[in-house]
Order: sequence, then C-alpha cells, then structure tokens
Amino acid sequence: MVVLVTGSNGQLGQALQALSERYPFFQFVFCNSKELDITNKVNCKAVFEKYTPDFCINAAAYTAVDKAESEPEKAFEINANGAENIAESCKRHNTILLHISTDFVFDAYYSNNIAYYDKELRLPLKSNLGLTETDVPFPAGIYGLTKLQGEQAVQHTWEKHFILRTSWVYSEFGTNFLKTMLRLASERDTLSVVDDQIGTPTYAIDLAEALLQMILFCTSRNILDDLFGTYHFSNEGNCSWYDFAHEIFKEKDITINLQPIPTTSYPTPAKRPQYSVLDKTKIKKVFDLNIQNWKISLQDCLQKV
Ligand SMILES: NC(=O)c1ccc[n+]([C@@H]2O[C@H](COP(=O)([O-])OP(=O)(O)OC[C@H]3O[C@@H](n4cnc5c(N)ncnc54)[C@H](OP(=O)(O)O)[C@@H]3O)[C@@H](O)[C@H]2O)c1
Repeated sequence: MVVLVTGSNGQLGQALQALSERYPFFQFVFCNSKELDITNKVNCKAVFEKYTPDFCINAAAYTAVDKAESEPEKAFEINANGAENIAESCKRHNTILLHISTDFVFDAYYSNNIAYYDKELRLPLKSNLGLTETDVPFPAGIYGLTKLQGEQAVQHTWEKHFILRTSWVYSEFGTNFLKTMLRLASERDTLSVVDDQIGTPTYAIDLAEALLQMILFCTSRNILDDLFGTYHFSNEGNCSWYDFAHEIFKEKDITINLQPIPTTSYPTPAKRPQYSVLDKTKIKKVFDLNIQNWKISLQDCLQKV
C-alpha cells in the first residue's frame, strides 16, 4: 500500500513521518512543497504517475490565518485550487483521498449564536458534544472560506474521499500556540491570553494516528462507499486559549503572571470562532477510535519539547 503525504514539512506531515515506522506495511512517500507543489497541476500529475498511490493524505495548506486576510488569492490558490488538483489526481489513479480541513469553516454562524454555549459550565448547550458534520458551515474569514472551498472542490471532484476537520493543532514540530507560549514565558513575567474563545486542542501525533488508523480500516474493507464523506477530529474535552496556556505552564512548572482577557483586548486581522468544539461521535463510531483528552495528550507532547 503506497501512502502519499503532501505538505510533509508541516506539523501534520512531520507527525506522520514520526509515526511511519510503526506502520512498516505501508510504503510512505513524503513530499514537501518543493517536491510536490499542489497548486501545480503538471507537478501533481507527474508525482501521482510516478508513485500511483493507494492513499493520499493532503496535509498541505495555506495556514497563516491572519495573513490570508491580506493575500486571499494565495490562500485560495493553495487551499481551494490545490485541493482540487489533488482530488483530480486521486480520481485519475483511483487513490483514496484523506483531505484535512478546519473548525474555522464554522466561525460566523456559531460565533454569533451566543445561546449555543454555556460559559459557566464551559459546555455546548445543544448536544454537549459540539459541532457535527451536518452543522452548516459559515466561515467569517478568508482562511476558513478557502478551506471550505477546498472541501467543496474535493466533494465535487472525487467521491472516494474523507474530509477530516480538525482544530487548534499543536505539536513538537513547527510553530504553534504551545511553542509560542513557552517562548513568551522565557521572555516575560506577565502574559495575557484570550479566555472567551472555546475549542479543543489537537495534538498532531493523535491526528496523524487517527488518519493512519482510518487507512488501516479501509484496507480491511472491500466496500467503503458508505463511509466516504466528512468527519470531525480533535482531542476530547474543551477549553479556552487561556485554559490551554494555563495547563501548559502548570505541567511545565513555569511561574508566570497569566491574565485572562477578552477577544476585544486582542484584535487580530481575522475573526476567530468564539466556539468551535467539534463533535467526534461519527469518527469514533465508524472507525472504532479511542480519542485522548487534550490534557493527557498535552502531557505526551510536553515530554518532547
Ligand atoms: N495548525 C492548526 O491549528 C490547524 C487547525 C485546523 C486545521 N488545520 C489543517 O490541518 C492541516 C495541516 O496543518 P499543519 O498545522 O500541519 O500546517 P502547517 O504546519 O502550516 O503545514 C502546512 C504545510 O503545507 C505546505 N504547503 C504550503 N503550500 C503548499 C503547496 N502549494 N504545495 C505543497 N505544500 C504546500 C507548507 O510547506 P512550506 O512550509 O514549504 O510552505 C507546510 O509544510 C491543514 O490542512 C490545516 O488547514 C490546521
């Protein structure tokens, strides 16, 4: 089984590389953005013809959420057109596509629906589980919009796909919230972090493991048609960015004056979702996955940074 991974230098790409030794029965082909530029159709065609992959994990994306507001064409080219190019190549070679998307497709609708979340209990009101795959996406920013356009391009181009929406990805690799908090704590005595955006952190290694388990599951089934479609994945539980930072410093025994602040005190070019906890019921049931609580996975990651 050949598993092609795009965007292999990113957080998820590196997490997949780290796990690949545990899956010796897969032949992995890891391509960074130079080896496979997903916006280049000729390049996509050549790589797929060379390796004829059975599965493709599209971990390549434009992920600079704020910068996307000032360069929407680039975000669209990678997140929408790039996703379509990959889906077309998958179709040509009958390759099952696992495409990664984001909780940011939900921003506007739920951010405005204040009744959706109980701030005291820190629980969603509707189901206590979060946003489901059938909730209607309604992105507020360019990044979320281009990721939604990528989802739609995949859906329209090639039916043998899994779209995996995830949130708040962090790891020992690349740049992310966890690394930024540790760096800032080494430079400052006081730190203010937003406490009114609620979501769930996702350890990239857990996300990578879930994707590889999904592929394993597929290889053991003859008929998959009913399973293709959209799924949500993050770690279990929910928190604010302030809670996340608090847990990082607690686990690392870092003493710092950490202050909770509202989003209004930390304006950013792109609007963030106020509430983006993902409901994982579907993925757990279909693929028989066990998902760790975010605090446990954070401990795993902190042993490596
Ligand atoms: N990070 C998060 O918090 C988060 C949250 C929700 C969903 N997601 C989604 O999860 C997936 C993985 O995210 P991540 O955190 O691993 O992102 P990341 O660390 O930013 O990695 C993205 C990778 O995509 C590559 N890339 C950019 N343009 C490309 C192109 N034209 N062709 C091929 N590769 C290209 C980048 O390569 P270069 O470094 O060479 O540019 C980079 O290695 C993405 O789909 C993202 O939208 C992420």
